Amino acid sequence: MERKKIVVVGSSNIDMVARVHHLPKPGETVGNARFLQAFGGKGANQAVAAARLGGAVDFVTSLGNDMFAEVLTEHFKKNGISTDYIRLSVENPTGTALIYVSDSAENCIAVSPGANAELTPDYLENFKKVFDNASVVVMQAEIPYETIVRVAEYAHQKGVRVLFNPAPACHIDDALFKIIDILVVNETEAEFVSGLNMTGCGIPLMAQTLLDKGVKAVVVTLGGRGAYLATSEDSGLVAAYEVSAVDTTGAGDTFCGALAVACSAEKLSKDHLEFACAAAALSVTKEGAQPSIPMRDEVLAFMENNH
Ligand code: RIB
Repeated sequence: MERKKIVVVGSSNIDMVARVHHLPKPGETVGNARFLQAFGGKGANQAVAAARLGGAVDFVTSLGNDMFAEVLTEHFKKNGISTDYIRLSVENPTGTALIYVSDSAENCIAVSPGANAELTPDYLENFKKVFDNASVVVMQAEIPYETIVRVAEYAHQKGVRVLFNPAPACHIDDALFKIIDILVVNETEAEFVSGLNMTGCGIPLMAQTLLDKGVKAVVVTLGGRGAYLATSEDSGLVAAYEVSAVDTTGAGDTFCGALAVACSAEKLSKDHLEFACAAAALSVTKEGAQPSIPMRDEVLAFMENNH
């Protein structure tokens, strides 16, 4: 595989996870929770996924004025990620996510952005060089929207493809839609960014509506049903791999990181979605966001044994 450089610009969080029998309802206390702490954040998860799955990754993120900054930087290096453009906050702690995961593998998450909120557009001046030989920039929505726009504009100008995963769901301006090469959305995000109802219009029409806004390729992730690709030349469903899920936290991030690696040297195709579905399937069989992200060899062996 030709190794093309992938730039991830996004958040880093410390995930504080409570494994509970069922997700608490408002006002309810759920006892007997099991606690675990793991590295997370949609940006960091996607950077780690891209690196473990074979990409040459540069990660641009903002870490806090706490012990996690050093620990995370070491962790990224151990995963083979270039950390030259990580900034350190003077005022804020590293981002934190409070997560409940139920026995049925469902989750709900609240994020306190901390230092992630400081990744403002002006910081782009400090990492413009990273785009010199990059093939794709990957972003999510846990950093300021203005930064996403500025980075997308610059990358587009430099001929670097833009993969945007608007998670958590956020509004996308018409101008940004036009410079997104690959938009990866789950069903909730698809509804939010399109303003349409998935049940009412169905996946193909939803994807076409997003293509009509100027996006070059749309990928709708469908959890246990797989993922749907839509471009002007090709469209259709790629089925999911069947696994027994224990924790779906970070599955979408693993999918995005895998997709970025798979298509970094080629035009996006269903084969790339298949690799991303396999990586995401493996990730849900283990607990935690980053602890569950598989290595490239594991994914290839899994695909070989499950086709
Ligand atoms: O997508 C999963 C991630 O969302 C978690 O790792 C958590 O940090 C939140 O950002």
